[in-house]
Amino acid sequence: MAPLHVVILAAGQGKRMKSRLPKVLHRLAGRTLLEHVAAAVQKLDPATIHVVYGHGGSQVRDAQSALGVQWVEQREQLGTGHAVEQAMPGIPDEATVLVLYADVPLIAAGTLRETVTATADGSLALITTPVDDASGYGRILRDDDGCVIGIVEDKDANDDQRSIREINTGILAAGAASLRGWLGRIDNNNAQGERYLTDVIALAVSDGDGARSISPGALEEVLGVNDRSQLAKLERYYQHQQAERLMGEGVTIADPSRLDIRGEVDVGQDVSLDVNVILEGNVVIAEGVRIGPNCIIKDAEIGAGSEIHANTVIEQARVGSGCRIGPYARLRPGTDLAEEVHIGNFVEVKNTRVGRGSKANHLTYLGDSRIGKKVNVGAGTITCNYDGAEKHTTIIEDDVFVGSGVELVAPITVRAGATIGAGATVTKDIPSGVLSVNRGRQTTVENWARPTKKNKAPK
Ligand code: UD1
Ligand code: CA
Repeated sequence: MAPLHVVILAAGQGKRMKSRLPKVLHRLAGRTLLEHVAAAVQKLDPATIHVVYGHGGSQVRDAQSALGVQWVEQREQLGTGHAVEQAMPGIPDEATVLVLYADVPLIAAGTLRETVTATADGSLALITTPVDDASGYGRILRDDDGCVIGIVEDKDANDDQRSIREINTGILAAGAASLRGWLGRIDNNNAQGERYLTDVIALAVSDGDGARSISPGALEEVLGVNDRSQLAKLERYYQHQQAERLMGEGVTIADPSRLDIRGEVDVGQDVSLDVNVILEGNVVIAEGVRIGPNCIIKDAEIGAGSEIHANTVIEQARVGSGCRIGPYARLRPGTDLAEEVHIGNFVEVKNTRVGRGSKANHLTYLGDSRIGKKVNVGAGTITCNYDGAEKHTTIIEDDVFVGSGVELVAPITVRAGATIGAGATVTKDIPSGVLSVNRGRQTTVENWARPTKKNKAPK
């Protein structure tokens, strides 16, 4: 099969977005529009991806340098045909070329594959679809046999042509050698004075190569983003699709319109998601996990049967199976919880491993710590991990009982089975099995009168 070379057109200004940010850098489900298109074509394993940029070009390049694409500048926007021409020098004759728009983010890889496959016999293939309101779009012209014979742009169309409801989505594929030839023959004698890519269709037909039309799997696949309203509509559509997929895999979703997925989510059976859950980045949720309302989970793994209660925020963390987290817990990067760990309300955990069955249920900060099994951390306990210059480690071994309101000044080690009485400020290591008490002596002052205000200020 011919190698596939992709050309993504991204030189448009996107005026209707009313934004300082180039249009293709606006985000849908957490990823830029350009990233969506690039991700779709990556699934076809192309030899190269060329992105034609113009307006705000260096900003797009800098922001998306991780995409690993080839950047092609179009200095002046002289039309879609001109834009594709800019990429052609980097594409060999034996290639198949697939052209897409960076502002049509939800195109499916399957539809693209079908389009590329349709060029196998040398014909041009383009994605078309009927729409209710075709105004503004290029219209598909067909002969009496129903064969595609060309495209007429809205501004160049006569009244008859304007009544055609089948539109050009802009996505097409063709052999590189043929496309190069056709592009060399187009001109800008049209209403907009532009070099139209769409003019290559009639040339393919007159050369006898022919043009085939491909239908998208859903209309939303080929809808473009021109303003923020269209962006929001596609976002909702996309989220609805994600929710449908999860429900298909056995997830209960309290309200599919109140779930947001901004990344890749891998779920087990019988997971349940309450309202206003946001899942970001790479999230793995094992069987039977229940996530309460208003939880944000980013780049994290939640083990089987765990319960994440309301208003919990988890980022770059691993939660083992059978854990109980929240409500109002915050698991920060580097948190690694074994099985059956309980992290309760207003507890913050960072860069900390917690062993099986340990609990920190109330108002606690655990940072840069290694906590063993069956440790009980009392309310209001704080690991003092930062001395103003460096971070230090707190080690709490198995079966330790930390009373309430304890400050553990790191670096510090509390050996297995030790008990720390409430209110201690621990600065020295505690040996195994002991009770460590460390607090000011309590005194009582008899007959003590609380001060009262002497002269109330006159009003
Ligand atoms: C284009 C098609 C039209 C189709 C419609 C679908 C042409 C001539 N017309 O019209 O048939 O129905 O898309 O949305 O192709 N671009 C560049 N450089 C340029 C001009 C455009 O990179 O010089 C990019 C834009 O950023 C955009 C895409 O090409 O992503 C389409 O350009 P636009 O001007 O929006 O074309 P339309 O007039 O909408
Ligand atoms: Ca457009």
